[in-house]
Amino acid sequence: MAILPGDGIGPEVTEAAFSVLQAASERFGLSFDTSSHPVGWTAVQATGSPLPDATLEACRRADAVFLGAVGHPDADGEPPGRRPEAGLLKLRKELGCYANLRPARIYAALQDQSPVAPERVRGTDLLLVRELAGGLYYGEPRGWDQAAGRAVNTLVYTRPEIERIARVAFELARGRRRHVVSVDKANVLDVSRLWREVVTEVGSEYPDVRLDHMLVDRAAMELVIRPAAWDVWLTANLFGDILSDEAGAVVGSLGLLGSASLGDGVGLYEPVHGSAPDIAGQDKANPVGAIASIAMMLRHSFGLGEPADAVEHALERVLGAGLRTSDLLGVGGGETVGTRAFADAVAGAVRGQG
Ligand code: NAD
Ligand code: IPM
Ligand code: MN
Repeated sequence: MAILPGDGIGPEVTEAAFSVLQAASERFGLSFDTSSHPVGWTAVQATGSPLPDATLEACRRADAVFLGAVGHPDADGEPPGRRPEAGLLKLRKELGCYANLRPARIYAALQDQSPVAPERVRGTDLLLVRELAGGLYYGEPRGWDQAAGRAVNTLVYTRPEIERIARVAFELARGRRRHVVSVDKANVLDVSRLWREVVTEVGSEYPDVRLDHMLVDRAAMELVIRPAAWDVWLTANLFGDILSDEAGAVVGSLGLLGSASLGDGVGLYEPVHGSAPDIAGQDKANPVGAIASIAMMLRHSFGLGEPADAVEHALERVLGAGLRTSDLLGVGGGETVGTRAFADAVAGAVRGQG
C-alpha cells in the first residue's frame, strides 16, 4: 500500500485514517506493507515535481494507493508543471483510474446537520460515478496564450471512454436500487449528445436497471430539493467534481465523503475534500472522509468486506455517540473534538466490536 499524505490537512487525515486501519488490522489479524511518499506541494518543495518518479513507481508497484489531499496557496502563481493538482491528475491518469466512486450517504446521527431540512435529507444514499481520466481535465489543445489574452481547454470524450464508465455505473446500480441517472448538458454540448447516445446504448444491455437523463443544471437543484430520490448518478469529470462537493454539503460536510478511483489495476483512495489551508495544522479536520476511503480500499482492492463493514459501523457509532469535529457544529449539540480524538474513538470502536 502506497501512502501519499500530501499537503494541508492531508497528513492529518491520513494519520487518522491509518490509526483506524491499524485497529482493524489488529482485530482481524491483517497486516499490510506500507510505504509513504511525497506528492503535491510537499513534493514540489522536496524534488521540484508534484509527482516525483519515485512516488509514481511506488504507486505502480502497490496494490492500493491512499492519498490525503494536495494543494497549497503558495502554489497559486506557479507554472502548470509545478502545481500540486497536476501531480494528482497525472497520478490518476498514469494508474488508469477512470472510475471515481463518490458515495454520499446521510449518517442517521447527522440528519440535523444538513443545510437541507431533515425530512428531505433523510434516506439520502447517492452514488456519484464520475468519469476521472478524460473530459475537460485532459483534453487537447489546452493552454494560456498570455500575449494574445486567450486561453483554451478542450472538452472531448470518445465512445470507448463513455462506454467503460457507463458500464461501471450500471453494474454498481445492480447491487443497489437499480436506477441510473446520467447527468449531462446535451441541450448545449455536442459531447453530451454523444454521451447520451452511448449511455443509452449501454443501458439497453441492462434492462433491469432504469435509466434517466438529466441536465446538469437541473441536477444541481435536484440534489438539494430531493437528495433522497436518487440512486446512481453517472457523469463526466468536471460535472462530477462540482456535484460531489454539493453532495458533501447536503449530507452535512464535505469532510465526510470518501472515494475510490478504480480502473485498469491499482485502486486509488482519497477523501473528496481538498487540503483545506484555512484549518491545516490545527487538529480540526474531519477525518471521516479519509476513514471512509480506507473502508472502500479494504472492500474494493483487498476484498475484505468484513473489516470494511467494521470500520463503517465504527464511524456510525462514534457519530451516534455525539462526537463531532468542528465542521459539524450545527443543530443538536454533541461533543466537539479534534481530528486525533475523533480517530481514536473510531479506532476504539473498531477494536471494541464483535
Ligand atoms: P477544500 O476542500 O480544501 O476546502 C473547502 C472548505 O471545506 C474549507 O472551508 C475547508 O476548511 C472545509 N473542509 C474541507 N475538508 C474538510 C475536512 N476534512 N474537515 C473540515 N473542514 C473541511 O477546497 P478549497 O478550499 O477549494 O481548496 C483548497 C486546496 O485544496 C486547493 O489547492 C485545491 O486545489 C485543493 N483540492 C485538493 C483536492 C484533492 O487533493 N483531492 C480536492 C479538492 C481541492
Ligand atoms: C477533487 C479535486 C481535484 C479534481 C483537484 C484537486 C485536481 O477537486 O478530487 O475533487 O478536480 O478532481
Ligand atoms: Mn473537487
